[in-house]
Amino acid sequence: MTKPTSPLAVDWSDGSYELTAPSLEPAAQALVDALTLTADDSVLDVGCGTGNVALLAAQAGARVVGVDRAERLLDVARRRLADDGLGRISEFVAGDVTDLPFSDDGFDAAASNFALIFADDPDRAASEVCRVVRPGGRVALTSWLPTGAIYRAGRVLREAVASDAATTPARLSWSERQFARDVFGGAGTVVITERSLAFRHSSAEAWLTEIEDKHPAWRAVRTAIGDQSDAWRDAHERSLAILLSENESSSAFEVTSRYLLITVTLND
Ligand SMILES: C[S@@+](CC[C@H](N)C(=O)[O-])C[C@H]1O[C@@H](n2cnc3c(N)ncnc32)[C@H](O)[C@@H]1O
Repeated sequence: MTKPTSPLAVDWSDGSYELTAPSLEPAAQALVDALTLTADDSVLDVGCGTGNVALLAAQAGARVVGVDRAERLLDVARRRLADDGLGRISEFVAGDVTDLPFSDDGFDAAASNFALIFADDPDRAASEVCRVVRPGGRVALTSWLPTGAIYRAGRVLREAVASDAATTPARLSWSERQFARDVFGGAGTVVITERSLAFRHSSAEAWLTEIEDKHPAWRAVRTAIGDQSDAWRDAHERSLAILLSENESSSAFEVTSRYLLITVTLND
């Protein structure tokens, strides 16, 4: 088959991303902590998915709005906050981070947990988030670093569907500190720290089977190359070998991913 030359589009409503989202909650908590919220704050969760940041910010007393392109995940987030008794102080809106459906300066803070990094136009996404946060407000986001078992397994997938040209970024990416400084530097003071996040499951095989069946990105690759293809079988075997070789647990499955926590205090 001819490999596509552009990155694969992922429909985040497909599958069951809500099974993966809980594993990202510690990073959402790190974002909420970095925003140092007060009960009077209004917070935008950018690329909210199932509302990890929104839930924690609302539990801290803030009023929250979540925005995402994936309508099905917005419904999951709405139900989740309502079930937690936070329906009255939360709202979830369909929209793209490169064209946010909000007026200027409307939020005290914005956070994006591994979501803004997927925007096709990073400069535009960053400028939109800064536009909707008031002067002196805070912006925080997380971005994966290119290390660890899950990154390497993801690279196997990307290589299965994309040509070298499509997997090689033409410029720096969100995994490089200088990229965030370039994108946000004019808007305020940028502080970047490195963090880690553990992924756990009963076994590497069980983790991979679940992610292949339920995660939107894995499902997009499987659809693109066909689950009966040699390419898919090869990607599965290579991914499993990576996960097994980097497993940090002797009795189950545990691997660590590293990420950047990027905070920006906007100019007054
Ligand atoms: C890895 S998930 C993270 C979701 C959530 N922040 C969390 O903590 O689980 C990425 C999310 O970014 C959203 N997303 C990707 N590109 C987007 C865009 N251009 N505008 C808005 N949302 C986007 C996806 O729909 C998905 O919900």
